[in-house]
Amino acid sequence: MKIGKYYWLVLSLSLACLCGCVSRPDIVIEDFEFDGGFEQSPYGAWSVEGTAFGAGPATGGVDGQNAVTGFAGQRFANSFHGGDNSLGTLLSYEFTIQRKYINFMMGGGFLSGTYIELLVDGESVRKSAPLFPTEELNWMSWEVSDLEGEKAQIRIVDRQTGGWGHTMIDQIEMSDQDKSIFRAQYVVDFAVDKKYILLPIQDDAREYRITVKVEGKKIMEPIKVRLAESRIDYWMPLDVEAYKGKNVSFNFDYVYAGAVGLENLTLSDAFNFDYNEPYRPDYHFSPCYGWTNDPNGMFWKDGEYHLYYQYNPYGTRWGNMHWGHAVSKDLCKWKHMPVAIAPDSIGAIFSGSAVVDHNNTAGFGRDAVIAVYTSHREDPHRLSISQVQSISYSTDNGTTFTPYEGNPVLADPHYIDFRDSKVRWHEPTARWIMTLATGQTITFYASKDLKEWEKLSSFGEGIGAKGGVWECPDLFPLDYNGTEKWVLLVSINPGAPNGGCATQYFIGNFDGRTFTADPLPYPLWIDYGCDNYAGVTWSNVPQDRILFIGWMSNHAYANFVPTHYFRNSMTVPRDLHLVHNGKHVVLASYPAAEIDGLHGSSVEMPDATIQETHLVSGLAEMLRGAYDMTFTLTPLSNAPFGFTLCNDADECVAFTFDPAQNTLSVDRSRSGNVDFYPTFYVDPIKSPLPMRKSYRVRLLIDKASSELFVNGGEVVQSNIFFPSASFNRIKFHTEGGNVALSDMTVYEMK
Ligand code: FRU
Repeated sequence: MKIGKYYWLVLSLSLACLCGCVSRPDIVIEDFEFDGGFEQSPYGAWSVEGTAFGAGPATGGVDGQNAVTGFAGQRFANSFHGGDNSLGTLLSYEFTIQRKYINFMMGGGFLSGTYIELLVDGESVRKSAPLFPTEELNWMSWEVSDLEGEKAQIRIVDRQTGGWGHTMIDQIEMSDQDKSIFRAQYVVDFAVDKKYILLPIQDDAREYRITVKVEGKKIMEPIKVRLAESRIDYWMPLDVEAYKGKNVSFNFDYVYAGAVGLENLTLSDAFNFDYNEPYRPDYHFSPCYGWTNDPNGMFWKDGEYHLYYQYNPYGTRWGNMHWGHAVSKDLCKWKHMPVAIAPDSIGAIFSGSAVVDHNNTAGFGRDAVIAVYTSHREDPHRLSISQVQSISYSTDNGTTFTPYEGNPVLADPHYIDFRDSKVRWHEPTARWIMTLATGQTITFYASKDLKEWEKLSSFGEGIGAKGGVWECPDLFPLDYNGTEKWVLLVSINPGAPNGGCATQYFIGNFDGRTFTADPLPYPLWIDYGCDNYAGVTWSNVPQDRILFIGWMSNHAYANFVPTHYFRNSMTVPRDLHLVHNGKHVVLASYPAAEIDGLHGSSVEMPDATIQETHLVSGLAEMLRGAYDMTFTLTPLSNAPFGFTLCNDADECVAFTFDPAQNTLSVDRSRSGNVDFYPTFYVDPIKSPLPMRKSYRVRLLIDKASSELFVNGGEVVQSNIFFPSASFNRIKFHTEGGNVALSDMTVYEMK
């Protein structure tokens, strides 16, 4: 070992000598390691104008600035003194350029009014700003070999007000080495002879914006990729089959020069990965690979249920929003279809709905499928955002969509959050009604043709939960004892009863123009668990059935859940109906009857009276990760009681009914991997529990999720977890009194 190292040292020394390039030492122009100080000019030999650079170099963030990192030594020049609106310049002393490069560390804003420049004879000969706004100082560099021997000065300028109106500089040096760590306008070329370019991804790397070009022409909207910087976590495919024999180039706005991903971009005919990773659900919909959040655009047509979903095909974190697509005949098994809608020049494809246009109101053909969704555009640094509504039509049953050339069909610059258009046909007024989330209200619009929209009314002032932004609304009628009621779903992020995001609802009337909520104890939640968000209903389902599906995760931690090639799944499809909970009307949800079609073998367990604990034996064979069970619990006193799922690693999820407190709580604090992200909620997840003589329980388990329905869905909790082995035991317990367990059946899911 030693000898090897020694030889290597000798070899490198001799190579250096052979090159005759024993490099010249760096010359520091300024390191800002002085404190301004009393009686001294605040920036030493530099002349200062304005107030932005303060009374000398800073030691970190100033005046409420976020933490600043990356600078060398103790101090650096910072123009945040007085905030983003203060202005100023620093002009260096004169020096002679004596090396090939001038390197410096820079952070702060990237807009036109903050920069560093090199002056020769008072003329600006080089000028730079960071490639992206950041409070981290990073090395940047000017190649100045043509200027060696010239006298020069450096000027640091802050003439920018508003957001990112500040700059930060440190460690200005002359060197024979280029120290910059990002390459701007970097291009990687491929002579395509295979089906895919495999993208090496590091889950927590920066997102780099890539414009993909073929023979120099952009072929799709730029994508953001977390290209591996120091390690490759997984790969995502970009299908380039259509360009075989051509030159495909990746044009990075900028990229980390040392990124391992750059050398590992790979042409390949195969994209192989382990689909059956440990937390892959058996019977819940999850994307084949990549990220999903909200379900979108669901409709039924010709015997098939279509499900679209917010989809990132280039990583397993949120981003690059497309509509992925899946189809099912039975709501049990889903077939993955090609991506249905990809970002276009108007924006990324955010959440929305789809309708079957039986009467050809939009002119795209009888029974065309029309998707109505939010086009979301942001500048590359997410500093400005625009949201408008667009439509796309499909004449092949929802497989491919063409954007309408008149897009967008609805805009209102008054709102930043203007999204998630959900459309349904309103027979009494013979027009389409759009329900749209607008800030913390819902606005209703009407249209005869899905293209021209008229504003009707808005709902939400002074009512409901307001702890976050309102999203993904849905408005639909439901029968309640022979009367038509209207239900308005409103998802909210954050502001959920148990943390993060959840879906609230209102019950009332809709007259074709205005929604009026009945007086009920709002907020009311469709699911009190942590993991049912952004759910909406299918359109065009026979018998006016109101069929719902939610996203079974939570924005608080969804980007970090410990899965590998995919992230997140949906709840089971659920039927919605109105019931009385003993106090008032509530929106109940219950697994669609079709789900019973997944039942494999089953066992009926004997009735029992539980005192303290009762382990149901003989179930280990059945409880192999995906199962469904039903049973009735009848408390014989007011003491808390419940049941616990456990595994061989002593991990568990506990469900506790507390009749005295009127709560039902789910405790996942010992459910396995709970540390993958700090906001994975581990406090007991609570819901109100109406007083009942007995509680009929339905529990659906699918490896990493539990969906609990009590008394036909008048109380629901959906929660995810990440155990190291399947929960294969169930134990009932009471804390004092006795409880009768009856009518228990356990089904294996096929
Ligand atoms: C809800 C949401 C929607 C938006 C979409 C973007 O989860 O924030 O409001 O349309 O996700 O992916």
